[in-house]
Amino acid sequence: MIQVEGLTKRYARNVAVDHVSFSVEKGQIVGFLGPNGAGKTTTMRMLTCFMPPSEGTASIAGFDVVKQPLEVKKRIGYLPESPPLYPDMEVGEYLQFVARIKGIPEKEVLKRSEEAAARCFVKDVWSKLIGKLSKGYRQRVGLAQAIIHNPEVLILDEPTSGFDPKQILETRDLIKSLAGDHTIVLSTHILQEVEAMCESLVIINKGKIAKSGTIEDLTRRNGALIEVSVPGSSTDEAVLTAPFAKLDGVNAVHAKLTAQGLWRVDIDTASSADIRPQLAQIVLGNQWNLHRLDSTEVSLHDLFLSLTSPVAAPVVEAVPEETQQ
Ligand SMILES: Nc1ncnc2c1ncn2[C@@H]1O[C@H](COP(=O)(O)OP(=O)(O)OP(=O)(O)O)[C@@H](O)[C@H]1O
Ligand SMILES: [Mg+2]
Repeated sequence: MIQVEGLTKRYARNVAVDHVSFSVEKGQIVGFLGPNGAGKTTTMRMLTCFMPPSEGTASIAGFDVVKQPLEVKKRIGYLPESPPLYPDMEVGEYLQFVARIKGIPEKEVLKRSEEAAARCFVKDVWSKLIGKLSKGYRQRVGLAQAIIHNPEVLILDEPTSGFDPKQILETRDLIKSLAGDHTIVLSTHILQEVEAMCESLVIINKGKIAKSGTIEDLTRRNGALIEVSVPGSSTDEAVLTAPFAKLDGVNAVHAKLTAQGLWRVDIDTASSADIRPQLAQIVLGNQWNLHRLDSTEVSLHDLFLSLTSPVAAPVVEAVPEETQQ
């Protein structure tokens, strides 16, 4: 659904996005994760035709963002970092205005605007001036304008920023409920948000992709942890570790007896291949009792920090942002 190849954005003094490539399957929710200034917003602006790339290509549902922007815009809903709202308009009036711009037939304008308002919990402020709304409510109106034409792809730049905890939960549920029919890319620096909503991740740092893949793959450490109890008399460490150490691709095996009398065996492997089935067979073959069998994981937090930890670099002041259309 989304294909990005070597996408690059250069400004006068820096490269904001540097040969970024990734793809997103239909119906997926992908988290775009990175520290401040990583290039998330810049990438999203290129994907949504707000800004041309300096190099590289991006396509949405097969349509190129540079060559076929009208086709792309029909298929995407975009929630920018600062939603393009008009403070002098009432919420309902604004949503109907956006619906018309997005080509919704006149007889459906009111119905679709009300539906979007209800889904994004802004029905209660329908007749309020946008300029008088709180930040969280403004963000929700921004989300409502993004989904109003029921686009195939949603690009959401920090969709829950400014929300209170209840609104965060409601918005996460809303976004999750939109997946399946919609393909969603959302940027955030909140790791819980990613864990709560996304199946896969693109981690970006200083304009480059640091890592991408499913959360499961990214957080899997190469190895596994098992806990067994040995019926009858206990056995020594060497007896326990030997059969695991013989497995292909196993680098190291450590066993220790826990306070509960279980043997905990920690196995490091050379690749990320899942060796749990072979481990289970060894346990069964030896007639040990299996109490636990896990892939070992690194936390998303540790992964993120290891990929994006700051290096001492001079801070380059950004020149003013381009005006959004
Ligand atoms: N209009 C612009 N002109 C010059 N440099 C810019 C412009 N917009 C962004 N940049 C620079 O490009 C880099 C990436 O910025 P971007 O806004 O894409 O980061 P981000 O990942 O969205 O950060 P944040 O988490 O703070 O929103 C930054 O170094 C920023 O200063
Ligand atoms: Mg940003």
